[in-house]
Amino acid sequence: MIVSDARGLPSPWIVQWAGLVAAGATVLDVAAGGGRHARFFLERGHKVTAIDRNTTALAPHPGLEIVTADLEDGSPWPLADRGFGAVVVTNYLHRPLMAALLEAVAPGGVLLYQTFMEGNERFGKPSNPAFLLKDGELLELVRGRFSVTAYEARLISEPAMAMVQRIAARRT
Ligand SMILES: C[S@@+](CC[C@H](N)C(=O)[O-])C[C@H]1O[C@@H](n2cnc3c(N)ncnc32)[C@H](O)[C@@H]1O
Repeated sequence: MIVSDARGLPSPWIVQWAGLVAAGATVLDVAAGGGRHARFFLERGHKVTAIDRNTTALAPHPGLEIVTADLEDGSPWPLADRGFGAVVVTNYLHRPLMAALLEAVAPGGVLLYQTFMEGNERFGKPSNPAFLLKDGELLELVRGRFSVTAYEARLISEPAMAMVQRIAARRT
């Protein structure tokens, strides 16, 4: 699998649209990995919940809630009763989880999502269609429930060549 930025830098898309997240709003970092976006939002003064099946790379922080959970083993979504001012997902796709992730965005909150899309096979992994968004898929997912501020489906060259789809949208 293509790894995230090896330097631990946040995705430019997340940086670009982080200003949509209300000051002091809670942020959920889904499949947080090494925690580059959790750290980014902590530094901006947000309380962050980071969830991943492997949370060993996440350093404790007073504003950070760490949830260790396998999101693909068929268990119920572990944060079902929670709403967040922003839900951030990068380089992760598990379609059965999508409804729960959209529901985790509180009304007025923001969804920031970027992951690989079809066409990425040319550049390496992920190449399994289960891990690649279809053309327009993020737009289709939020249609009628979110107001879309920005959307792109494009080739990027940093940190590696990849086909990605990304969205910044506010729940109405
Ligand atoms: C490519 S990394 C992306 C990490 C982070 N979002 C980023 O962009 O820096 C994918 C992440 O998904 C997590 N993941 C994969 N399968 C998972 C599962 N079944 N349950 C929870 N997390 C999972 C991995 O542990 C890993 O941290």
